[in-house]
Amino acid sequence: MSTMRSLSDFGFIKNRVFEAIVSTYGADGMPNAAPMGVMIDDTHQLIIRPYTKSQTYRNVLLRGCAVVNLTSNPMIYYKTVFKDANPDSKIPFEWFERSHLVDAPKLKIVDVCIEAKMIKVEDFEKDRARVLCKVEKIDPIVRTYPRAYCRAPFAVIESIIHATRIKVFLSNDKKEKAEELIDLIKHYDALTRRVAPDSAYTKIIADILLRIEAWKARLKSE
Ligand SMILES: Cc1cc2nc3c(=O)[nH]c(=O)nc-3n(C[C@H](O)[C@H](O)[C@H](O)COP(=O)(O)O)c2cc1C
Repeated sequence: MSTMRSLSDFGFIKNRVFEAIVSTYGADGMPNAAPMGVMIDDTHQLIIRPYTKSQTYRNVLLRGCAVVNLTSNPMIYYKTVFKDANPDSKIPFEWFERSHLVDAPKLKIVDVCIEAKMIKVEDFEKDRARVLCKVEKIDPIVRTYPRAYCRAPFAVIESIIHATRIKVFLSNDKKEKAEELIDLIKHYDALTRRVAPDSAYTKIIADILLRIEAWKARLKSE
């Protein structure tokens, strides 16, 4: 059933970036996962654009494949981007399982797993690659009910995305750009406290704001 599905069944459209969690195995066989933006091309091949410094890039090159996991659960974004937010700074092993067709793990707790094999790697921007992948298998994990919309999880995912960019801007001395994004996170902080007070969501944004303070303090002391 799953191989008959196409990426467009899951909302993929050309020229749009979709956020996903890309999971891979490292040289030591350890599973890894990180949020990445993914796109499709004319022929419905998947495009991933990892920074060449990332573990994900090294793993995709090594194993020639990846799993693109679709989810809107902010906790998964948070724990896969900030590895040190996990016990022992490692994403829990039990979050992963073996895939069917590729040498990359899939995440158990997501909505859709897309197993993909690397076809081609090209340079893209400075320090970034464009990896074209062929879809081998699409595994939807069926949910019985649609979910009611709450603004908090989306505010958290936006804040996590901004945080990863703020870290880069601060280390490149682009303070103004960093401050613009920090203001946005503060806005999401207030929103989340309003629509989901004392929740896992407010805790994640509070943690992000603390991380930003720590990044700033570290840069000042250097
Ligand atoms: C929603 C979201 C999208 C992201 N998209 C990308 C991306 O397209 N390419 C990239 O290299 N990093 C992206 N990042 C940042 C990486 O997830 C982050 O650098 C991560 O630490 C890389 O982990 P790794 O070294 O285990 O691969 C994104 C982060 C978030 C939160």
